[in-house]
Amino acid sequence: MRLKGKVAVATGVCGGIGQSIVRKLVDEGARVVAVDLSQDSLDELKAGYGDEVTVTTADVTNYQDVEAMITTAIKKYGQVDIVINNAGIAFPKPLLDHDPDKDFNAITAVNQKGVYHGILAAGKAMQKQGNGGVIINTSSVYGNMASELSFTYNVSKAAVDMMTKCAALEYGPQKIRVCAVAPGRVDTPMLHQYKDLGLWEHIRREQMRDEFTTPEEIANVIAFLASDEANCINGTTVYASDGFENFKYPLKSG
Ligand SMILES: NC(=O)c1ccc[n+]([C@@H]2O[C@H](COP(=O)([O-])OP(=O)(O)OC[C@H]3O[C@@H](n4cnc5c(N)ncnc54)[C@H](O)[C@@H]3O)[C@@H](O)[C@H]2O)c1
Repeated sequence: MRLKGKVAVATGVCGGIGQSIVRKLVDEGARVVAVDLSQDSLDELKAGYGDEVTVTTADVTNYQDVEAMITTAIKKYGQVDIVINNAGIAFPKPLLDHDPDKDFNAITAVNQKGVYHGILAAGKAMQKQGNGGVIINTSSVYGNMASELSFTYNVSKAAVDMMTKCAALEYGPQKIRVCAVAPGRVDTPMLHQYKDLGLWEHIRREQMRDEFTTPEEIANVIAFLASDEANCINGTTVYASDGFENFKYPLKSG
C-alpha cells in the first residue's frame, strides 16, 4: 500500500484511464476525490466504492470548479496530497478543416487551461498546508511528436509538458513535485474515434506489443509517480507508451 494515508484528487475519472486511476489509488490505500463532468457517470463510479471515494462534478475549464474540488478533498478528508490532472479531450480533424473560432479554443480550454487550473489550485492548497505534495498531469507522446489530424491536441500536450517543468521549478521550494505521464495509444473511448475514421487497425499495428496499452498500465505508472518511491522524479514527463515515440512502424519478427 504505497499511498496509505494520502488524499488524492483526480479529474476525468469516468473515462477509460480515469476509472483505472481511481481503482489503483484506492488499492494503494489512498482516499480519493473523483471528478468529472456528469453526476450520473460519477454516481455509477461511486457505486463500486465506499467512503474512500467521494465524487464531485467539476468542469476543469472553470477555475472556481477546480478550486472547489480541492476544497472538497480538504473538507471531506482533511488534506490534499496528490492532484492528478487527467481530464482531456481530442477530436481528430485535419488542420485545414478547422473553424478558427471553435476548434483551437475547445481543446485548449480542457487540455491546457484545465491542467493549468489544476496545477495552480493544487499548488496554492499544498503551499498553505506546508507539507509538500505531488501533482501529476496526463500528457501524451503527442506532446513531443507531430501527427496528422491532431494539431491542437498535440500543441496542448506540449504545453502540459512545459507547464510540468515550469511548475516543478516554482513549487520545488515547497516540496511539491510536478510530473507528467505520456501514454501512447490506450484503448479508451477517446481512442475509439479512430474506429469511426476506419483507422483502428492502422493504429493498432503501430504498437510494439501488437496491442494497445491498457488504462491499468497507465494508472500503475501514475500511482508510482504519486508515491514516495518516486521522490527523485520531478519536473519531467515519464513516457508510458510502449516505446511508441521511438519507432516508426516497427518490423514484427514472428
Ligand atoms: N487514450 C489514449 O490513447 C491517450 C493517449 C495519450 C494521452 N491520453 C490522455 O489521457 C487522459 C484521459 O483520456 P482517456 O483516454 O481516458 O479519455 P476518455 O475520453 O475515456 O476520458 C476523458 C474524461 O475526461 C472528462 N472530461 C472531458 N472534459 C472535461 C472537463 N472540461 N472537465 C472535467 N472532465 C472532463 C470526460 O468526461 C471523460 O470522462 C486525457 O488527458 C488524454 O488526452 C489518452
